[in-house]
Amino acid sequence: MYLAFLLQVLLSALLVSAVKPTRTLSKRQTTPPSKFVTSQNGQFMFNGSTLDFVGTNAYWLPVLNSDEDIDFTLGNLSAAGIKIVRTWAFNDVGTIPVNGTWFQLIANGTTVINEGPNGLQKLDTVVKLAEKHGIFVLLSLTNNWNPLPLDNQAAGISARDTTPGTNKVLPRNALSNDYGGMDAYVREFSDGKNHDAFYVNPTILAKFTNYTTQIVSRYVESPAIFAWEIANDPRYIIRLSLICIWLKSPHQMQLLLPATVLCNTHTITKFHSTIAQHINQVDPNHLVSSGNQGFFCVDCPKLFPRVAPPPPQTSSTPSNNRRRSPPKPLTKRGLLQERKAIRNKVRNLQKRTSTAGGIRIRGRWMSTETKRQSDDQGIGPSFDGSYGIDSEDILNIPQIGFGTFQLFPDQNSYGIDDPTLPAFNNTVNQGLDWIRRHADVGKLFGKPVTLNGFGLVTQANAPSFVPFNQTQAPFGPDSPPSPPAQQPFGITDAQRDDAYAQWLHAGLQNGLQGMLQYQWSQGNLTTGVGTAISPTVSGTGVSPTVSGTGLSPNDGYSIQGAGLDQAVGTIQQAAQALGPDQQR
Ligand SMILES: *[C@@H]1O[C@H](CO)[C@@H](O)[C@H](O)[C@H]1NC(C)=O
Ligand SMILES: *[C@@H]1O[C@H](CO)[C@@H](O)[C@H](O)[C@H]1NC(C)=O
Ligand SMILES: *[C@@H]1O[C@H](CO)[C@@H](O)[C@H](O)[C@H]1NC(C)=O
Ligand SMILES: *[C@@H]1O[C@H](CO)[C@@H](O)[C@H](O)[C@H]1NC(C)=O
Ligand SMILES: *[C@@H]1O[C@H](CO)[C@@H](O)[C@H](O)[C@H]1NC(C)=O
Ligand SMILES: *[C@@H]1O[C@H](CO)[C@@H](O)[C@H](O)[C@H]1NC(C)=O
Ligand SMILES: *[C@@H]1O[C@H](CO)[C@@H](O)[C@H](O)[C@H]1NC(C)=O
Ligand SMILES: *[C@@H]1O[C@H](CO)[C@@H](O)[C@H](O)[C@H]1NC(C)=O
Repeated sequence: MYLAFLLQVLLSALLVSAVKPTRTLSKRQTTPPSKFVTSQNGQFMFNGSTLDFVGTNAYWLPVLNSDEDIDFTLGNLSAAGIKIVRTWAFNDVGTIPVNGTWFQLIANGTTVINEGPNGLQKLDTVVKLAEKHGIFVLLSLTNNWNPLPLDNQAAGISARDTTPGTNKVLPRNALSNDYGGMDAYVREFSDGKNHDAFYVNPTILAKFTNYTTQIVSRYVESPAIFAWEIANDPRYIIRLSLICIWLKSPHQMQLLLPATVLCNTHTITKFHSTIAQHINQVDPNHLVSSGNQGFFCVDCPKLFPRVAPPPPQTSSTPSNNRRRSPPKPLTKRGLLQERKAIRNKVRNLQKRTSTAGGIRIRGRWMSTETKRQSDDQGIGPSFDGSYGIDSEDILNIPQIGFGTFQLFPDQNSYGIDDPTLPAFNNTVNQGLDWIRRHADVGKLFGKPVTLNGFGLVTQANAPSFVPFNQTQAPFGPDSPPSPPAQQPFGITDAQRDDAYAQWLHAGLQNGLQGMLQYQWSQGNLTTGVGTAISPTVSGTGVSPTVSGTGLSPNDGYSIQGAGLDQAVGTIQQAAQALGPDQQR
């Protein structure tokens, strides 16, 4: 049944993603196609044809213990039909580690780049071997997340989960947030108290710009670089109160240095403009993207306002029956209108079954006071600028080549729940809406848009879901909340595959130019003491399978065993559905 569904999904995907030779190409017949990925008319172009992709994330590629491991992993990705992998081009440390990869020492008021075999030469190897396997790499230049373990003296107020047995004992680089990043600069070059100092402090900007130059200039001529990504998840917190609703425990609230109250989305937009211009100057060959999670600030004043396109010419437009009517710009009024019916349902049910904390539907408890209902009065933090991100304003920066967003329903809320639907269906549906909205934004702004990470935490992966390590299921318990019933966290493997297939389908059908699953899982990797593939740690994510070999890090989204074949199959078939578009 599932396979039949998937086949149907992929067949229709194939129909909408057929190769579209562009008119621009015939005009450019005399110039040879660029050997780099470019963007034209809202499409990625490579070697004379459009390029759409389904790929994955493997931030840990440069920290693998041997070149053979990197080669083997990339070979494995290639065998799955994957053409693009997203990875970290940063690895900041405060002291030089005894073992393992590091790129930049940030200490004693200065920065030092490691050009050695356990430094940027590792990144060189990733890029070189990716080229060998016909894979592009999307390189991210810093990270929003760098919470130190609480027992670290320098942690200050930026600390992470202290649950015994959690990431405190995981080796360095075992988690996506363990590679330095913005707060590493903030601690060293400012008073160390405000995360957003990263975006405005002149010393920090100079240091980050310098790092950017060192990395970007290294690969100006490399055809294996898909594009540059300024940062993983750049954002900050304007209204702490909203975030507090879902970051319930004090430990979780300490994840990030807080932002000053003076921040608004223009701060991060300006930062993007500055850095994107800089990268463009150092490397005019490759596209630049943000890496933000796609949060909106609807109806907010823009630094880079969209110029409305001229009205369509009725006479000479070639007919394209498949094209949907042009998307409408996102407005608060429109959003509230969309949600009106659901809000009314919620209100009526609350009237009829008013019990503290939840709504009973068909004998099941739904839509309790979770993060999803926190936006009752407004449009919610994903839409109202709460994260300091206006992804539309960033997308319209001239030097930004394409838009990015992410889909992690375990971490963010993308809409409001329909109380008549099971929690899982709400999760899937809100993901579908989120994908369509971003595809629409791309069309409105005439730039490609990619989903740079999507994932759901399964029950099997729940213990690995760190740093949050939540035990409360994010989809709302299906039993009365009082007395509190601890539901198993996460969804089943079958639900995950169902959600992934639906999201991939929606992305292909609505014209996203790329989708990257989070995160790749690789076995048979060489272990090394004190590294991300370490034989010393037993426990989730990093335990060796047999002596001398181990698994890649797992933040709660990697898939092992039989589930891996199923998930890879889903990605593989979606990648194949894009077929001829992808030929390099
Ligand atoms: C494990 O990796 C090595 C290279 O790193 C490779 O030669 C070998 O075939 C791999 N084994 C399996 C079972 O994939
Ligand atoms: C920073 O400077 C101090 C004092 O000179 C020195 O002991 C320490 O090793 C330095 N740290 C690093 C990471 O270089
Ligand atoms: C830029 O980085 C290089 C390499 O780490 C370093 O030698 C140089 O001092 C840095 N410049 C500034 C202004 O920080
Ligand atoms: C997360 O917390 C639970 C409950 O405290 C614990 O059993 C589990 O080991 C933790 N996860 C990790 C990765 O340690
Ligand atoms: C909920 O999702 C499941 C799995 O995709 C689907 O079979 C079912 O029809 C959905 N239920 C509703 C009420 O939409
Ligand atoms: C992928 O890696 C696994 C080891 O984790 C190996 O068993 C498998 O053969 C590899 N597949 C391909 C197609 O290389
Ligand atoms: C570094 O690696 C060596 C050799 O494997 C090991 O003996 C040592 O314990 C490691 N150091 C750390 C800090 O992990
Ligand atoms: C570009 O396309 C041509 C014609 O299809 C092909 O021969 C060539 O190998 C391609 N080049 C690259 C770098 O993919």
